[in-house]
Amino acid sequence: MSKTFYITTPIYYSSGKLHIGNSYTTVLCDTVNRYKALRGYDTRYLTGMDEHGQKVETVAKELNKTPQDLVDSLANNTKDLWKLLDIKYDDFIRTTEKRHKKVVKKIFEQLLEQDDIYLGEYEGYYCMSDEAFFTETQLGENNTCPDCGRETQLVKEESYFLRLSKYENRLLEFIEDNPDFITPETRKNEVVAFIKQGLHDLSVSRTSFDWGVKVVSNPAHVVYVWIDALSNYISALGYNTDDDSLYQKYWNGDEVVHVVGKDILRFHAIYWPIMLMALNVPLNFKLYAHGWYLMKDGKMSKSKGKVVYPDSLIKKYGLDPLRYYLLKELPYSGDGVFTPEDFIARINYDLANDFGNLLNRTINMINKYFDSKIFKPKKSYFEVDEGLRNMVSETIELYKTDMDKLKVSQAIQNIWKLISRTNKYIDETYPWVLAKDEAKQAELESVLYNLVESLRHIGILLSPILLESSKKLFKQLNIPKNLQTWNSLGFGKLEQVEVTDKPTPIFPRLDKKIEEEYIQNLLNSKEEVVEENYIDIEDFIKLDLVVGEILECEKHPNADKLLVSKINTKDRVRQIVSGVSKYYTPEELIGKKVIVVKNLKPVKLRGILSEGMVLAGKNKKTLEILETTTLSPGDKIS
Ligand code: ME8
Repeated sequence: MSKTFYITTPIYYSSGKLHIGNSYTTVLCDTVNRYKALRGYDTRYLTGMDEHGQKVETVAKELNKTPQDLVDSLANNTKDLWKLLDIKYDDFIRTTEKRHKKVVKKIFEQLLEQDDIYLGEYEGYYCMSDEAFFTETQLGENNTCPDCGRETQLVKEESYFLRLSKYENRLLEFIEDNPDFITPETRKNEVVAFIKQGLHDLSVSRTSFDWGVKVVSNPAHVVYVWIDALSNYISALGYNTDDDSLYQKYWNGDEVVHVVGKDILRFHAIYWPIMLMALNVPLNFKLYAHGWYLMKDGKMSKSKGKVVYPDSLIKKYGLDPLRYYLLKELPYSGDGVFTPEDFIARINYDLANDFGNLLNRTINMINKYFDSKIFKPKKSYFEVDEGLRNMVSETIELYKTDMDKLKVSQAIQNIWKLISRTNKYIDETYPWVLAKDEAKQAELESVLYNLVESLRHIGILLSPILLESSKKLFKQLNIPKNLQTWNSLGFGKLEQVEVTDKPTPIFPRLDKKIEEEYIQNLLNSKEEVVEENYIDIEDFIKLDLVVGEILECEKHPNADKLLVSKINTKDRVRQIVSGVSKYYTPEELIGKKVIVVKNLKPVKLRGILSEGMVLAGKNKKTLEILETTTLSPGDKIS
């Protein structure tokens, strides 16, 4: 029976469009999962959305939507993005789903009954944007959030607490006994140092908002995000339900890996294991915390327009360049910086030049010298053959070690060393010189065969990473399916090769200047957080906006706040009622040329007919009617 492998991403907040940071984690897990499947594991890949919390409630209100409608549309957007990135997940859990909420309720009640959760009072500074609470000493200037710099609110409320202190020593012991529980080592050290300072019990419920899982025994409280969110890793497997077969198979199986960014390491390395200890669930998982993708001038930030979205890059450059860039440029235990220059350089140098060109040259030579077909050589003709063969086997070994440890960037670098070695092999064997000598046909054929064998291996090793180009490689070289597998690794398994006679470069070379500028423009264009709030131009042009001159104006006879104006819009004089008397006297308005919405449905306002609307701008202090000086009544505004 195959070994099992269960891998998870964090569940992402429903707070708008996901950027290359969240995409990195998702692509990394996808790659590792595909690698494990290639190795013959029975794999399961879970991702999903963290949909509760005050922020969702507030944003939904601003958009005049229900929180459920908001999270539904964001979940759909996220799924579309994962489709674009060709993420092969097995399950997509959403914390608003019944199957999840049921489990969270049970977990909370059990911990309460066991007295691992108790009722107390919470006081802290809350940052709505980061969904996090801070103590006074952690805050920035003027009580701002230490992470994002936004204003925080002081919150004092009754709250349930999880007893972390009770499990402190057990957790430390566990980390000591399981040295590879948290990787990389530096992150583990951070966690250990934090625990050793002493753990404070964790506030795990709120009464200040509604959008969450209600505590069954005290519905004034909702379960606060982390107990809710962390439980997803087992609720999605049917833990503590009638059908827990997936839980039994994968959680209690061979390998479980949670991949998270460094920002949420503490939650996963401390709170989650303690929750599981308290629930008596085996601590079977390993935790890998990766660094961040940054911009040249610091953290990515949606509000400052300093953020890279994957969809526009994929649409322009294809899927593999982005997957390659993301996986290669973030080191195992540090941060990476996204720059347009590096992105284009990686495509031009690594993908088009080194890799694409190697494939293209090889196919062209086989077509030119052997009319597309070659056979396995009977013997080795060159000393350098062995060097190439050895490098292939070494690369396979290194790849296994790296990929098993989630060192994907390292694995890619080693594959590229093999690509360079293979390119060098061409320079060492001079196939174009061999081609000129009738007596050297067998040597030439062996050189080309070795190139194809090396490329076949490169294709297999790249298949979890570069999804489209590994397929193109196999197709252009006509490698049979059974020789694209992990078990077919090993130099010399190909008996014959018949390459395509119409090779096309798998990566085009890009114009550095034009493309760098293109990406820079993408970075500069701020995108709306909730895209589907856009309107189309067709919606806008439905408004019939024209200039109108106020000829007469007087107070509304029955309402203090309203003024009644007679406005000339050229086609006729219309009567419009506006709520502006707090800001303007009738005399001030007479003679003004204003903007009128002509086709607004007429209504009676406190008994007086109003046939349109006058546009005005407003802030907390004042209101100002928009005016024009040079345009005339009836002129169109668009
Ligand atoms: O924290 N570089 O959700 P989230 C690399 N809902 N990775 C990044 C990144 C960056 N610049 N920015 C974000 C939450 N990430 C909680 C998780 S889990 C039970 C609950 C990735 O939407 C990284 O994986 O803020 C990080 O941990 C995650 O997105 C945070 O996503």
